[in-house]
Amino acid sequence: MISKEITKWWQKAVFYQIYPRSFADGNGDGIGDLAGMISKLDYLQELGIDAIWLSPHYPSPFVDCGYDVSDYQDVGREYGNLEQFQHFLNLLHQRGMKLVLDLVLNHTSDQHPWFIESRSSRDNPKRDWYVWRDGQTGVPPTNWFSAFGGSAWQYDQNTSSYYYHYFFKEQPDLNWHNPEVKEAMFNVVRFWLDMGVDGFRLDAVGTIFEDEDYPPIPEGMSQEELYRMASRYSQPKGEKTVVAYHDEMFKHQVDRPEVHVLMQELRKVIDEYKDRVLIGETDDIAFYGDGNNELHLNFNFPLMRTRQLTAEHVRQNQVERLSALPPNAWPCNTLGNHDTARVYTAFGDGTHNNEQNKLYLMLLLTLKGTPFLYNGEEIGMSDYFFTDKTRFKDPLSVLYYELEKRVNGSDEPTALLRGALMGRDHNRTPMQWSNSANGGFCPPAVEPWLPVNPDYKAGVNVNDQVSNPDSMINFYRRMLNVRRQNPVLQTGEYKEITTESKDILSYCRSNEGQTLLVVLNMSPEIQRFRLPFKVKQILINTMKNWVHIEDPEPTLQPYQGVIYIAAE
Ligand code: NOJ
Ligand code: CA
Repeated sequence: MISKEITKWWQKAVFYQIYPRSFADGNGDGIGDLAGMISKLDYLQELGIDAIWLSPHYPSPFVDCGYDVSDYQDVGREYGNLEQFQHFLNLLHQRGMKLVLDLVLNHTSDQHPWFIESRSSRDNPKRDWYVWRDGQTGVPPTNWFSAFGGSAWQYDQNTSSYYYHYFFKEQPDLNWHNPEVKEAMFNVVRFWLDMGVDGFRLDAVGTIFEDEDYPPIPEGMSQEELYRMASRYSQPKGEKTVVAYHDEMFKHQVDRPEVHVLMQELRKVIDEYKDRVLIGETDDIAFYGDGNNELHLNFNFPLMRTRQLTAEHVRQNQVERLSALPPNAWPCNTLGNHDTARVYTAFGDGTHNNEQNKLYLMLLLTLKGTPFLYNGEEIGMSDYFFTDKTRFKDPLSVLYYELEKRVNGSDEPTALLRGALMGRDHNRTPMQWSNSANGGFCPPAVEPWLPVNPDYKAGVNVNDQVSNPDSMINFYRRMLNVRRQNPVLQTGEYKEITTESKDILSYCRSNEGQTLLVVLNMSPEIQRFRLPFKVKQILINTMKNWVHIEDPEPTLQPYQGVIYIAAE
């Protein structure tokens, strides 16, 4: 058990990810912005979240939807300016909320002045800030791939050499072996920390270094083959054979030991400031270091990398994850973000999606560790697979549309659907605020930057839900409030309870004063459950009734979840 004194705000907080372009449009141009976020501060506070992770808000040519940064010390004009940013941050702090920024260390945009200089000549002082290698046209330095399609090397006519990019060619990798790069980026870090931001979510940390011997990958590996394997599955990323092939393909380009030395140095910079946090976009436990000297939090992605959130899957995940953490390391759980299918779509069975969405929130907010929510899930937003190619914004949709045609020989509608499915536009569509045109995201006459999911007309919007006590948003508010009012859910000991049904997941959270019993029916069947000890009260129930406190062997409806307070 952890004592109150040593718990940090980021251990107790519930984080809420805002994808700025899609959250709220304050100036009516169809693009979310800081003015919009400021106008929704009451909303965020009433929802009951404690901290925000803001996806990139920097100037960007927007090839990778903001993850191609062209200036790390400014705000994209479409979002506002630095003054407005500072204002937003101050207002959040006044309300007791924290703000964590997205920091993209691995690469910049090819429009960043550093890269423009670097590519201008072989003897430019910034030449060595990026990863340049000699090679002839058509013969790249290695047979490595980019994770976002094609070779990892882009030929640059101007100086007849290749630069390396793990992601799109418009995202050249920085050369982190160069101390000047480190100094420049650490200055960026200090710039935002000095403004008062509470920490960073570190983008793609595993990709920062590559093997400097540049060994080749096995002959014959190809993106087409990877795609052929992946396209047999609806959620290919979790499939073991696909993962194994993918890992072999990229093994020289990720998770190099050097990155841990860098993370330790970055941690020291962060520790010069009071109470800031570093969160790694990685599931690799090695990024916790010894538990005190690298990143504070790293996502437990294996929890969500599954087709179904079964009781067995969660049980196994918790056993493996919790036992692998070094001492003092704190878990961090999430079920969705701007890169993955929304929880409502990814894990909904098509019949019980609403019940499941509530149940999975109860799970996430009661497991041990810091939970991360993704904007829109609180109203049950689902993925919107629009297939109008002219409206695709994520180049991955186009890449997969083309691969589907080339590799599987599919017709136009199939390829378009595949593009929609494999890209990430479907989970980034604008927030649905009301049932008026464009879901109230932007004025009716304006075209939003991504199409709005038409289900805003069918109750999937904030306005319609707030007045209905049984709505998704009101369950989110209640559940977030329960977590806040019961610190045992934040820092209490976690203990699994053995159940007779394999489909019931049950565990206790306890501290000196209190024990809570969480009982989750993770199946579409009615299940019976025998209470393991005396309880005195139901704290919260995902469904209105069905469970009585006097019943020692309650019956749980499909996907019902209940939290009990144990009798003393
Ligand atoms: C991870 C981000 O979450 C994703 O959206 C982005 O495309 C890549 N990193 C590259 O920055
Ligand atoms: Ca706007």
